[in-house]
Amino acid sequence: MKIDILTLFPNMFNDIFNESIIKRAKDNKLVDINIIDFREYSKDPHKKVDDTPFGGGAGMVLTCQPIFDAVNSLKKENTKVILLTPSGKVYKQKLAYDLSKEEHLIIICGHYEGFDERIRTLADIEISIGDYILTGGEIAACVLVDSITRLIPGVINEDSHINDSFNDSYLLDYPTYTKPRIYDGLEVPEILISGDHKKIDEWRKQKQIEITKELRPDLLEIGEVNEICNKEEK
Ligand code: ADE
Repeated sequence: MKIDILTLFPNMFNDIFNESIIKRAKDNKLVDINIIDFREYSKDPHKKVDDTPFGGGAGMVLTCQPIFDAVNSLKKENTKVILLTPSGKVYKQKLAYDLSKEEHLIIICGHYEGFDERIRTLADIEISIGDYILTGGEIAACVLVDSITRLIPGVINEDSHINDSFNDSYLLDYPTYTKPRIYDGLEVPEILISGDHKKIDEWRKQKQIEITKELRPDLLEIGEVNEICNKEEK
């Protein structure tokens, strides 16, 4: 997969994609991430990319020309263009899965007080990473790239994400433990040392349901989880 990130602050991405799993995915040519300063596309003699809003008001607004030219020159037949904005569709794991199947993503990071409304016409999808306001789309872009890249086939062992919270089951993950069996008086649940894998699987599923009910009861409204829980309660 190819991911082009359009930003005015390329330095914000300096190290983030050069560590750990994302770096390995890049080294193994499973993902190609390009950070593009869209100021370079500005036709203004001073490389200006923003201007005052029509009708008045505070702050500067990103202009159409640099972003339109950047997107139009990078876009190919199978490109999906994403605009990051707090008014977008709230990002969820299901969307990360869908996006991980794409060939080419262009991610536009907004900044300053906003962008010219006509920039929206470039986007196939507008995404918000949550109901809060960031100073710009750069951190949101990192969230997208990280969550999408780990789902690209071959990047991590599929078993590692098959049980992720927020897949179709909408159950939070079960608790995991490692050595030692007792740390500072805190013990690992007996069942996990029993060697009975059927019982361990049942315990884990049960824990997922309990934890989800306790911490994120809202998730239980979705999908088959109600069914699972109802069965457990009978
Ligand atoms: N830009 C500013 N806030 C944002 C958010 N919550 N998600 C995506 N892009 C943003």
